[in-house]
Amino acid sequence: MKATVKILRWDPERAVKPRYRTYTVPFSSGDKVLGGLLYIYKHLDPCLSFRFNCKGRHCGECAVMINKKPGLSCAVPMSRELTIEPLQNLSVIKDLVIDRSRTYRSITERLPRIGGKKHEGKGLRTLPMDLVDRIVRLDDCIQCMCCMAVCPAYKKEPETFLGPVGLLALVATREEIPGIDVRERAVPCTDCGQCEKVCPRHIPIHSEAIRKLKGN
Ligand code: SF4
Ligand code: SF4
Ligand code: FES
Repeated sequence: MKATVKILRWDPERAVKPRYRTYTVPFSSGDKVLGGLLYIYKHLDPCLSFRFNCKGRHCGECAVMINKKPGLSCAVPMSRELTIEPLQNLSVIKDLVIDRSRTYRSITERLPRIGGKKHEGKGLRTLPMDLVDRIVRLDDCIQCMCCMAVCPAYKKEPETFLGPVGLLALVATREEIPGIDVRERAVPCTDCGQCEKVCPRHIPIHSEAIRKLKGN
């Protein structure tokens, strides 16, 4: 089988605007989009930039927009017509590579400080098992940023709103930060639930984490 793969290419240091390039890629049943990108890189266009690491849905590095939906390219099957773009709402370094460090920085700089004087000298304490279960479940995030790519509130207020990843981090640690009111951080969230729908780890980002944060 052959696929027509349209990829949004852009080197912000060299070109003012992004543009699409189209490639014809052979594929077999069971092949994933990442395989198509690797074929293009090896056989058609060695200048194409994209990221991957584990090839097994564990690292989150390979997330891109595939036919307008965010997804892990190592998990989404190849199909005959594909449009591949960088994740929306995030800055592009080149082609399909987004600037993760800038996103992490902007989130962590706006998170309340965890630890500090309130914890000094308190030693270890036992957490209730339901809290442990919740933290482990929410902590399953692989930082792929798919949820950030569909969040309308993050799109509108990227400089101030933490986005689903930041809110998730708050919820996972909230009960460890006594005295900090984090509810206001969730105010811009519109409760659309899109973040949860696209999460490849099926984390209950909105139905559990954000709703809990909002006190619903
Ligand atoms: S539910 Fe809230 S955080 Fe999730 S995508 Fe919608 S606005 Fe963003
Ligand atoms: S919460 Fe899900 S979609 Fe968002 S970064 Fe983590 S793994 Fe990806
Ligand atoms: S390459 Fe690691 S999640 Fe796809």
